[in-house]
Amino acid sequence: MLESMSYTVPKLTDFSTSALDSAVRELLSALDQESAAVSSARNQNEVAHDVEWKQLWEEWKAFRDRWLARKNGITTQINDLWLKAAPKETKRDVGQRVNELKAKIEVEVGRAEAHLQRQESDDQRHLIESSGKSYASLDDAWRATQGVDITLPGIRRPLGAEHPVIKTMNEIIGVFRNLGYSVEEGPEIETDYYNFEALNFPPNHPARDTQDTLFIAGQESKPPRERLLLRTHTSPVQIRSMEKMKPPVRVVCPGKVHRNDAPDATHSPIFHQVEGLAVDTNITFCDLKGTLDHAMKALFGSSVKTRFYPSFFPFTEPSADVQISCIFCGGKGTRDGGPCRNCKASGWIELLGCGMVDPNVYGFVDYDPAKVSGFAFGMGVERIAILKYGVDDIQLFFNGDVRFLEQFG
Ligand code: PHE
Repeated sequence: MLESMSYTVPKLTDFSTSALDSAVRELLSALDQESAAVSSARNQNEVAHDVEWKQLWEEWKAFRDRWLARKNGITTQINDLWLKAAPKETKRDVGQRVNELKAKIEVEVGRAEAHLQRQESDDQRHLIESSGKSYASLDDAWRATQGVDITLPGIRRPLGAEHPVIKTMNEIIGVFRNLGYSVEEGPEIETDYYNFEALNFPPNHPARDTQDTLFIAGQESKPPRERLLLRTHTSPVQIRSMEKMKPPVRVVCPGKVHRNDAPDATHSPIFHQVEGLAVDTNITFCDLKGTLDHAMKALFGSSVKTRFYPSFFPFTEPSADVQISCIFCGGKGTRDGGPCRNCKASGWIELLGCGMVDPNVYGFVDYDPAKVSGFAFGMGVERIAILKYGVDDIQLFFNGDVRFLEQFG
């Protein structure tokens, strides 16, 4: 402890002016020494950190309490031992001196406090500056220099959830990866050539109207096949893949597609597809059926049945729409004693388009249609997610409401 702390308030018996003078002098010198000791306790050669500052403030508090504590502080003691003990005729003089001493003690304790505060903020500024970091606010900076308070509650970062569309897309991709397919991607801004022409849509073919295309403005000066548009399906990646690789080809092509549809519960101008393409020697419609039947069972459960319904796409021949037995009514068409609303009582739900690659398409990519054959399919990811998770409005996927999204975590 500090040496000067040895000061104790003497009991006074002699209340003469000279005796009082000397008692006051002694007390003030003790006050001075103790205050100076507290004020200079910080190691002058080093910047103090929070642990040291805690200690320094403890010392200042001990100093304050020793002099000012109501119970047995030095001011209380001089009140009891000097003023109360003073003979009547000296009370006035003693009272005045005691009051002056009290005021001086308070000033000195306050001075030591202010001195420490100044040093502490100097130290903080020094630590912040020497850290070389910049902080958003003084508060942040201060916290950063205070070390870690392990008693504070931690900051819980909410765990994100995979978006249901991405989750479903990855599931679909996973099914085909297991069959040996690899993943290919293509641009969302496509040329007319890849989106239509190379897929056997002749210019002005009526099938182009079935896909409400969003064209990029200001393309009129370009030859028609070079004009840019937002791809209306992932099928252009079939062409890009075949341009890149020789048969055998087995790829799935996930991605975003765009159509000029007004948004409602079942339509969105932006949605996702997963395209599939297999080209090899001797690939038959039987392979297509087996592959998609397996994929639908993997996605919706082994009791699901598939049905291939004649359809038309310019780039496949023959073409089919694939339907799965209704997963809500088990294919019966009735549920809870009434018609099943999900399959309009038919027992079947239409899910994707497919077909054998049209030989004309091979002509665009330098494949010999006499040697190779193949199949292609394309499925809407949101459509599959809606069925898998029982979502009743496609817009929920795009509104970004966390209350919806976090259910998929
Ligand atoms: N591209 C077609 C569509 O978007 C789907 C499809 C892909 C059909 C591959 C056949 C083969 O509707």
